[in-house]
Order: sequence, then structure tokens, then C-alpha cells
Amino acid sequence: MAIDVVILAAGKGTRMKSSLPKVLHKIAGKPMVEHIIDAASSLDIDSLNIVYGHQAELLQKSLSHHQVNWCLQAQQLGTGHAVQQSLSFLNDTNDALILVGDAPLITSDTLQRLIDAKKQADFALLTVHMDDPTGMGRIIRDGDNISAIVEHKDASPEQLAINEINTGMMLLPVSDLKRWLANLSNDNAQGEFYLTDVIEMAANEDKRIKAAHPVWEREVEGVNDRVQLASLECALQLKLAEQLMRQGASLADPHRIDIRGQLSVGNDVEIDVNCVFEGEVVLGEGVKIGPNCVLKDCTIGDNTVIEAFSLIQQAQVANACTVGPYARLRPGADLRENAKVGNFCEVKKAVIGNGSKVNHLTYIGDADIGANVNIGAGTITCNYDGVNKFKTKIEDDVFVGSNSSLVAPVTVAKGATVGAGSTITKNVDGEQLAVARGKQRNISGWQKPSK
Ligand code: UD1
Ligand code: CA
Repeated sequence: MAIDVVILAAGKGTRMKSSLPKVLHKIAGKPMVEHIIDAASSLDIDSLNIVYGHQAELLQKSLSHHQVNWCLQAQQLGTGHAVQQSLSFLNDTNDALILVGDAPLITSDTLQRLIDAKKQADFALLTVHMDDPTGMGRIIRDGDNISAIVEHKDASPEQLAINEINTGMMLLPVSDLKRWLANLSNDNAQGEFYLTDVIEMAANEDKRIKAAHPVWEREVEGVNDRVQLASLECALQLKLAEQLMRQGASLADPHRIDIRGQLSVGNDVEIDVNCVFEGEVVLGEGVKIGPNCVLKDCTIGDNTVIEAFSLIQQAQVANACTVGPYARLRPGADLRENAKVGNFCEVKKAVIGNGSKVNHLTYIGDADIGANVNIGAGTITCNYDGVNKFKTKIEDDVFVGSNSSLVAPVTVAKGATVGAGSTITKNVDGEQLAVARGKQRNISGWQKPSK
């Protein structure tokens, strides 16, 4: 049966103490609600409906890359009232999958369990057993069948002793949902229209209501404040770290790695402490990452070593390279095999050819550097005149002496040498030596200044 997804996200989130809507707070670098959208979208769904109450513009802007029906719940009169706001978008022949916007760790595997449970029943409910169920809706059972949910504030002492609780996530036919929601009342301790009242209505029609349970209990944990958000962040990071180790990476400390996107690793990767991976990062076999590195949207080839405190963003590093310590590879940096970029070097939009070395205190931008080139310490490609960017071309086997400036556009041809301290403004032909610096004078008998 096709599925219409409804995500409840109209709650104010007061305890976050934030101007940002609660569901836009991030976990693993991605808004909570987007984790839920992603989990739901991996199922075969017909529509995605989000019930919101505040800050429509911010929400819609942040999620503009998803196809969403936005359902305004102007006043938060309860979860049942929230779902009512989405009904006009739901197809009577579909099932409705109701999710909550602030339980970000839900997975498609768990949602699949709900779908499987629904196959053997009329209605499926995601429940868990909790040591301390305070505040939660309690599951009332009649043997295998669920017959009602009683909210904490409405529960009798016997019902409060029940520790199977409602996660708020459920799967049921849209046509039934519409009929039941039409009959909700707010005659309860909180004066709210409870979605959970539909369970008793279903049971009264002799519907079979079956429970499914999450693969991992933390998947159904809701976030109300930043402490809970941080706790789920840690839990998710540890889970991701464990997945990485199973894929062949050694982590110096699985509690000290942050993955905010997709990280894929080859066998025998080693990652030291406090590294952050963002966006799409691919590490080849045998890659070693030193402590305190940040890698974002980049590909690192086999057996390359990234030393401590390096920052790599939208760059490509081939096999057997060495980067860092303290290197910065900016967008368009393209290191070919065996290249070396050392400490306090910055590379932007530039190819560093096979076996070439940029080892110390250097800026290479808008450049094309061939193979076996040595760039001396403190070399700068002067690529910008304040308005336009120009290119520096350095061909194979060139030696650039330390503290040289290469004023682009300029070409240093194959096998040429640039003397240390030169400011190169004209092209250098192959095998030539270019020296462009003030001539040294040695003055004898120089009187040092004195006080
Ligand atoms: C609800 C359930 C309870 C369950 C608990 C799990 C009801 C009546 N109770 O409790 O059985 O154990 O979730 O966390 O359903 N929301 C709206 N509009 C509203 C009210 C809530 O969109 O008017 C959204 C919230 O943003 C949140 C979700 O619904 O994402 C759950 O609301 P919340 O107030 O946290 O749940 P409870 O009512 O405490
Ligand atoms: Ca409530």
C-alpha cells in the first residue's frame, strides 16, 4: 500500500531557548527534521506532509530541496489536531505514516518494521519499553492486541505502572484516520485533541492494532532541549564510528570523531583523534589521518598521509601523497600521486603534479604545476591584481628557490630554475635560470649605530 508521510513539527520547542525552530537544530550536521525526511524518503512514499506552526519561511527555505506539502497548525491544540491539518493532502486509498519531527535518529529499517507489522494488522504502532516512562502515553493491551493509549496525565495508578509507551509514530489507513479524527474531543487532563485517542476508536471497531519496536531504542528518543540534542549527537556519532571500524578503519578513539555527512573508507584506514568529516568524503585504502584534521567534500587516494591540523575542502588528493601538518587545501586543489604539501601551505584551484613538493609556508593559487617540481619555502603565486585572477604555469622539473613571488600570468618552462628571493614577472624559458632580486653590496668598515 502506498504511503503518505505526516511529520508533526508544530511544537514551539520552548526549552531549546532558540530563535531557530526546534526541528532545524542539527544533528550530525543536518537538521533533525531532515534526518526524518531522509529515513522516510527511502521508503516508497507518495507524499511528504509537514505540520508546522511557526517560522514557515525558515523551514521552507531550509527544506526547499524536498517536495513537501506544508500544513499550517496555527494554534497547537494537540497531536490529533496537528494531523487534522494535513488531511486534505492525504489520499484515501493510502496508508498514513505519522512521525514526529523531533526524534531524529529514526531509521528506515525501523519504519520498515512498522510496515511489516501493518501487513498483519489494520493498524501498526511503534512502541518501546522504558525503565522510566514518566510523561509518556501508556500502551493498554488486550492480549496481543492494543486497545488504547492513555496519556500520563490521564492515567490511573495501575496504568502508570505500565512501561510500554507510545513513541508517537504509527501507520494506519488514511480513510480510517479521517473518520476517527473527525470524532476527537479535547475532554482530557490537558484539554488537547489527542491523536492517541484514535487507538481506542479503532479497537472499538474491532481493528487489529499491532506493535512494532525500533531496531535501536534511541531512534525514538525525542529532543526537547540542548542537553538531549547533545546526548543523541554522541549516540549517533558512536554508532557511525562503529560502522567505520567494521568497514576497516582504525579509530584512535571512537568517542572523538565527528561525521557530518557520508564518509567512506577503504581497508586499513587510520584516523587519529578529533577529526571532523563533512559532506562526501572518500578515504582510500591505508590512508592515515593525523589528529585534529577537518575534511570536507574531498577524495583522498590510497596510502596518502594527512598530518595533524590539516584542513581540506573540495579538494582531491591522489595516492601516496603527504599533506600537512597544518596544511590547507581549498576548493580545486588537485594533488597528483606522490605530491607533498607541507606545513603552513595553502593551495587553491591548482594542480600539484606527480612527485612535486610544496613543503613550507607557501601559497599556490590558480596554478598548474607539473611533475617533479620543487617549490621553495615561502613561495607565493601572486594570482590577484585586486580585480582579476591570473594563472601561473610551472612545467615539469622546475626548481623555484625560497621566498620567490611569481606574478601571474606567468609561465616557468620545463627544467628552469628560479633563484631564491626572485620576483618573477616575465616568462622563463626551459632550462634557464631566472634571478630577479636586488644585487648584494658588501660595505666594509660599517659603523653600527650607537646610543
Ligand atoms: C505524545 C503522545 C504520547 C507519546 C509522546 C512520545 C499524544 C497525545 N501523546 O506526547 O502518547 O508517548 O508523544 O513523545 O499524542 N505537535 C504538534 N502540534 C501540537 C502538539 C504536538 O505538531 O499541537 C508535535 C510536536 O511538535 C512533536 C510531536 O507532535 O513533534 C509530539 O508532541 P509532544 O508535545 O512532544 O508530545 P506529547 O503530547 O507530550
Ligand atoms: Ca504535549
